[in-house]
Amino acid sequence: MTQKTNSLNKKDTSWSGRFNEPVAELVKKYTASVGFDYRLAEYDIQGSIAHAHMLSVQGIITQADFVAIETGLNEIAEEVKTGQFQWLLDLEDVHLNIEKRLTDKIGDAGKRLHTGRSRNDQVATDVRLWLRATVNQVIAALANLQTSLLDLAEANYDTVMPGFTHLQVAQPVTFGHHLLAYVEMLKRDVARFKDCKKRINRLPLGAAALAGTSYPIDREMVARRLGFDGVCENSLDAVSDRDFAIEFTYASSMVMMHLSRLSEELILWSSPRFAFIDIADRFCTGSSIMPQKKNPDVPELVRGKSGRIYGHLTALLTLMKSQPLAYNKDNQEDKEPLFDTADTLLVTLEIYADMLRLPVLENGVVTKTGFTVNKDAMRQAASEGFATATDLADYLVKKGMPFRDAHEAVALAVRYAVDQKVDLSDLPLSKLQAFAGEIKEDVYSVLTLEGSLNSRDHIGGTAPAQVKAAIIRVRKDLDQYLE
Ligand code: ARG
Repeated sequence: MTQKTNSLNKKDTSWSGRFNEPVAELVKKYTASVGFDYRLAEYDIQGSIAHAHMLSVQGIITQADFVAIETGLNEIAEEVKTGQFQWLLDLEDVHLNIEKRLTDKIGDAGKRLHTGRSRNDQVATDVRLWLRATVNQVIAALANLQTSLLDLAEANYDTVMPGFTHLQVAQPVTFGHHLLAYVEMLKRDVARFKDCKKRINRLPLGAAALAGTSYPIDREMVARRLGFDGVCENSLDAVSDRDFAIEFTYASSMVMMHLSRLSEELILWSSPRFAFIDIADRFCTGSSIMPQKKNPDVPELVRGKSGRIYGHLTALLTLMKSQPLAYNKDNQEDKEPLFDTADTLLVTLEIYADMLRLPVLENGVVTKTGFTVNKDAMRQAASEGFATATDLADYLVKKGMPFRDAHEAVALAVRYAVDQKVDLSDLPLSKLQAFAGEIKEDVYSVLTLEGSLNSRDHIGGTAPAQVKAAIIRVRKDLDQYLE
């Protein structure tokens, strides 16, 4: 943990009244969560202020007590922010640490804060508040990465590259079109996080330990103050539900899976065998033994870290499996996977957006290039491997030949060209006509890469005009997420 924790000298917990011996040191360490849940402090304080406010409005505590609580908690928030707050392992978790500090500051009013609530509904509230803020950050980071991809796609809307199936050259596509495939994946990711937020944004407070509370509380008031869309409708579910944490980790796993696919491609493309792209040096490392190497460390690590996030998803699903209602201490184990998922995802998205950044012109100097495209190598690769063979078959169909016959005629032509070690477009007209009499002089426009690209001119197709139109559509979408 990055924050300091110390031990208290005397026995001083909030629940120790009925215990005959102190908790063993090792057990204390084993059960304490303050080492990681201190990160919830800001949200714990927000939740406590909203709860105390409601208690005072409902006449459960006095207005004066509320004012003291609010002032004390705001001071504590400042202490936490500036790193002055002393986290004590003996006080178990973020909740008890803050409550104890409050009571030390303001006396009895501090001891009234916990009226009508339990740490069970409190922690569920804190995690939801933290996760809601995190989801907003993730959506902004996804939009930022999409912007990098869109800028790169725009600059390459007509850059020819080979499209692959089975990792073999299949048909020519534009590099812009290829990048837009990832933009689509990220669009779905944004939609998943937005949907997940609906279920995060419900208030558990008021459920207390599990059954609700006998005080005349107003849960809706607390929900409104904390910006929740409503309250969790069943107290047992409110304290034990962690679906929202699993959903977040699942949505994060999907993003990482998408980025692992792109990473795999960046690794291939940047290898000297392909040499389609060059990733800026600041994202790569050298080899300690082989001087010629420039290793694509960032994409490789992203590919590797996707496994780590899937692990967290499995951990959370397993954590919740077979848990009886309602709260169980198992639930404390939700935080580390969740925090690490968010941290890993956010930093991955940030680095990725920078790595895919086009050259930036600053004061007449080109800086911050993340990514350069070797258009010649891409074109060269597209012109090898008979990428326009399908176009020739389609040409014959348009001349009246049934598709299966056309397919066969082109297959024979390709075989001949392979033997001659030339491309289809290098064969003279008379040779081509030997495979199909329907072939005329106009065939050469079909056999060119540009002819092939431009002919796929429908929504979702790779024609440069379609790529441009798609970029405009996605940019509009993007403005909407960020609204
Ligand atoms: N630290 C606990 C957690 O993260 C807070 C709730 C404790 N509740 C309890 N009944 N022991 O889940």
